[in-house]
Amino acid sequence: MAQNWTPSSWRQKPIQQVPDFPDKAALAETEAQLASYPPLVFAGEARRLKAHLANVAEGNGFLLQGGDCAESFAEHGADTIRDFFRAFLQMAVVLTFGAQLPVVKVGRIAGQFAKPRSSNIETQNGISLPSYRGDIINGIDFTEEARIPNPERQMMAYRQSAATLNLLRAFAMGGYANLENVQKWMLGFVKDSPQGERYRKLADRIGETMDFMRAIGITAESNASLRETDFFTIHEALLLGYEAAFTRVDSTTGDWYATSGHMLWIGDRTRQADHAHVEYFRGIKNPIGLKCGPSLQADDLLNLIDILNPQNEAGRLTLICRFGHDKVADNLPRLIHAVEKEGRKVVWSCDPMHGNTITLNNYKTRPFERILSEVESFFQIHRAEGTHPGGIHIEMTGKDVTECTGGARAVGAEDLQDRYHTHCDPRLNADQALELAFLLAERMKGGRDEKRMRAHG
Ligand code: TRP
Ligand code: MN
Repeated sequence: MAQNWTPSSWRQKPIQQVPDFPDKAALAETEAQLASYPPLVFAGEARRLKAHLANVAEGNGFLLQGGDCAESFAEHGADTIRDFFRAFLQMAVVLTFGAQLPVVKVGRIAGQFAKPRSSNIETQNGISLPSYRGDIINGIDFTEEARIPNPERQMMAYRQSAATLNLLRAFAMGGYANLENVQKWMLGFVKDSPQGERYRKLADRIGETMDFMRAIGITAESNASLRETDFFTIHEALLLGYEAAFTRVDSTTGDWYATSGHMLWIGDRTRQADHAHVEYFRGIKNPIGLKCGPSLQADDLLNLIDILNPQNEAGRLTLICRFGHDKVADNLPRLIHAVEKEGRKVVWSCDPMHGNTITLNNYKTRPFERILSEVESFFQIHRAEGTHPGGIHIEMTGKDVTECTGGARAVGAEDLQDRYHTHCDPRLNADQALELAFLLAERMKGGRDEKRMRAHG
């Protein structure tokens, strides 16, 4: 167990991105109440995810992470969750079939409510108010009242996470994710897009494979792996008081686990080695992610790895790299060299969203070409280094939004105003997400074919 660690030892450390709650007594009361509530996930599930990720770290799988930049209380309908889940399943099946590798499925959902901000203050028309920090902290409306951090919101976030997770578990285990439904995951608006055609072809091939297996006695009724899927959750563990309330001892191992989600990540803005967030993370046993941006030095990364994964356990640490399409070539190789030289086991994942944000017509957006370009570079660099491009981390939705420009059904700068619904950063719509999945599948398959050829001759 981590030395001199408790679920609240982070409180002795300097901390970034912490909201200023005016009513400290109410905050303490909320945290105590949350600590008495049931956990959202079970430690055994987190261990299972870690085992899947260990497999990815060893080059035998691919990690798919996606979901909203920020979940919101206003958009908590069953349709939104279902649309997200089926877009995600479509991506997963394209990747699994295309790359012939197991895909580890982790949604940025059921807990993704807290946002780090570059400024504490937002100014509109000469009026300055505290920045919006996510629905778990304050409201997005630009009023003085909405922007006051309110602990009651943590109760709402907990209950929304529980309800969301409940539906996702039902979808994953209760028949919706059955591979026999592969045709039915096609969304209305994807149906008549270029991706729709590609997806239909792939679904036909899977259907044929299923028919063959049925003929030889392997059916979804008799075989859980055709019928069910393991679906896990991840969020940024930014609001440490909330996280501490859900940090529990696992009775089977005696270890501490975060139980607000299966996996948690540390943001690029809160990864200081001697600060609160890293302190909190070092003591929990869950698989964790670390966001790596251009300012991360190789020495600092190795130091963080020492603190966060001292046993060099495969599956414990995923490095989520978010450099930008024009910076990835300057930054990723130096981090790979450092990690490889020291023999550290990590999953390398690519977040092609956060380094590629621009402003067009007053909208924060991300050109799809830049997202693809960062992904392409990520694959090329890993190929050149002989390391495994292990995963992707994206902001996406199942809805037909117009938040990122480009894609096969080209969203233009003038279209952004049509369906720009995000509470925070621009997300890929279902069509763009599927297009990305096809590209990923091709690159992964290409890499494997190349490896195989090298091995055989
Ligand atoms: N159980 C396998 C898996 O999760 C196969 C599977 C079932 C699947 N339903 C799925 C794969 C939906 C992708 C999407 O990988
Ligand atoms: Mn974001």
